[in-house]
Amino acid sequence: MKGFIFDLDGVIVDTAKYHFLAWKKLAEDLGIGFTIQDNERLKGVSRTHSLEILLALGNVEATEEEKKEWMQQKNEDYLRYVNRMDEKEVLPGVLPALRLLKKKGAGIALGSASKNARIILEKTGIIFLFDVIVDGNDVSEAKPDPEVFVLAAEQLDVDATACVVFEDSVAGIAAANTAGMLSIGIGEADVLKEADRVFPDFTQIDVEALLAQSPKNNQ
Ligand code: BG6
Ligand code: MG
Repeated sequence: MKGFIFDLDGVIVDTAKYHFLAWKKLAEDLGIGFTIQDNERLKGVSRTHSLEILLALGNVEATEEEKKEWMQQKNEDYLRYVNRMDEKEVLPGVLPALRLLKKKGAGIALGSASKNARIILEKTGIIFLFDVIVDGNDVSEAKPDPEVFVLAAEQLDVDATACVVFEDSVAGIAAANTAGMLSIGIGEADVLKEADRVFPDFTQIDVEALLAQSPKNNQ
C-alpha cells in the first residue's frame, strides 16, 4: 500500500467532545434537548447537516439566515476549544504511525469533513507530516460520498486500490469502501461493521504490515 489517508476528528484527535459542547450550547440557547447519545449522529457529518439534525430533534424551523448565524455561533464556540489544543491531544499511537509512514516514504493525506482541519493540525504540531490535505473546504459532497478520499488519492498520485483509509465513522467507512480503498475502522467492530478491519486505536495497528499489503483487488 502506498497512500495512507487519515480522517481527523475521532482518528487523530478526540474533538467530538468539543463539537458536542459547542452544539450543546447552541441547543440550550434554542431550547432543544441534546444528549451525548444524540451527538453520535453528528460524527462524520458536515456542519450544515449537523445543524439540520439538531433542529429536527427540537422540531425547530428556521430561515437560511438564522441557520447561517447559528452555525457561525457554534463554530466560534468550537474554535474557543480548538485554540487551546496542543500536541498532547494527538491520540495514542498516531504520531509513531505517521513518523513510520514518513520514514518509509509513503504518501500521507488528510481526508476530513471539517473546515477547521488545518488549524487543528497546526495546533497539534503535526501539519508538516501531511503531503496532502483535503478538508471540508475542498469538497462539494459529504461522506458517505467518496469525493474527499478520491481527491486525496489523486493529489497523492496513488491508485485508489493502493490506498488505506483510517476512519471512525460509519459514513467514512462507506466512503472508503465505495472508493475501492482498504478501510480501517478506529473504534468498535459492532458499529463499524462494513470496515475491512477494525482496531480500538492506533497502538494496535501494525503499520509495517499495512505497507507490505497488496492492493485491495489483489487480496
Ligand atoms: C467531521 C466531524 O470530521 O467534521 C463532524 O466528525 C463535524 O462532527 C464535521 O460536524 C464538520 O466540522 P467543522 O469543523 O467544519 O464544523
Ligand atoms: Mg471522524
